[in-house]
Parts: sequence; C-alpha cells; structure tokens
Amino acid sequence: MKPITLHNKTFEVFIPETEIAAIVHSMAHNINNARIKDPLFISVLNGSFMFSSDIMKKITLPNTEISFVKLSSYSGTQTTGEVSKLIGLGQDIRNRNIIILEDIIDTGITLEKIISLLEKEEVADIKVATLLFKPEAYTKEIPIDFIGKSIPNDFVVGYGLDYDEIGRNLPHIFKLKN
Ligand code: IMP
Ligand code: MG
Repeated sequence: MKPITLHNKTFEVFIPETEIAAIVHSMAHNINNARIKDPLFISVLNGSFMFSSDIMKKITLPNTEISFVKLSSYSGTQTTGEVSKLIGLGQDIRNRNIIILEDIIDTGITLEKIISLLEKEEVADIKVATLLFKPEAYTKEIPIDFIGKSIPNDFVVGYGLDYDEIGRNLPHIFKLKN
C-alpha cells in the first residue's frame, strides 16, 4: 500500500484493516469472556468512534449499554499534558460496571483524568479497553485490562486517530515515516 501525505507529513501503512479487524475480534472475545454484569461502555470521542462501532457489534454481554464522552489533550504530534473536562455523560452512572473504550493510550494522562472523573460518580467498577497502547510512553500505574496491540512510540493516524484533525476516516492505521 502506498504512503499517504497529511499536513505535509508522510505516513506509511502500519496496521492494515484486516489486522485491525482481527485485533478487534479478539478483544471482543476477551471482554465477553470477562462476564461483566450489565456493562456500560464509555467510548472516548473523537478518536474511539470507529473502534467503538466495530467492537460493539461483537459484544454479546446481556444488557450492554454504550455512552459517549469527550475530552481533548492533544495538539499536533506532541501531547500538551492538558486535559479538559468530561462532556456528554447524561445519565446516572452510580454503581455501574464501566468499560472505557480508548483508541490509544500514550502517556496515560487522559486515562487518569477520565478515571478520576468517573470515580467521583461512585461507579462500581472501571475496566479499560484500548485498541493501541504505547508502553514506552506510559507514565501511570493504572492497569489496562484489555489491550489490542502494544506499539512503539511512533505517531500513528487512521481508524479514528487524527493528525491535527485529519486522517480519522482512513481504514488502516498509518505511522509517521522517518
Ligand atoms: P495520553 O493522554 O498521552 O495517553 O494521550 C491520549 C490521547 O492522545 C489519545 O486519546 C489520542 O487522542 C491522542 N494520541 C496519543 N497518541 C497518538 C498518536 O500516535 N496518534 C494520534 N493521536 C494520539
Ligand atoms: Mg487526537
């Protein structure tokens, strides 16, 4: 597959859509096997929209619900370390079993913020599912329950992930070409 250009940077295919589908399938299998009771999936927009849509079709747990929240901590290819508030949670989540759906966990700053905001709502349990994980960049102690694929510390784009807001629509995951 040919490299692509986004904002004058070149990206090459890193995880083709067939491999993404296999990863998502296996994550759904693991989540289903965890037998979480009346789960409330919380998809973190914008990046998780494609991953959430694909994985939810494979979740077979009874009484599954999904809700969407939004935060933003990123600008360009560098994390700013600043995270905004959780918006979009309309319902009472007290005593719920939450599964956070993330596209990617990098430093973990965003994840930590989301978890601390959810804990204030007195939820019963929080599990974390992320399609991609950058272990070399991760600075937190929070365990990640379901990881699709651990990747090196490269900037990636596509399948929901953006580079300054473009590239989310790409079906494959690309990485910045050196
Ligand atoms: P963290 O707070 O450093 O863990 O960053 C998490 C957020 O940063 C993710 O939800 C993404 O929106 C964004 N992000 C981190 N790494 C990348 C990347 O390689 N490509 C695109 N977005 C990224
Ligand atoms: Mg982003």
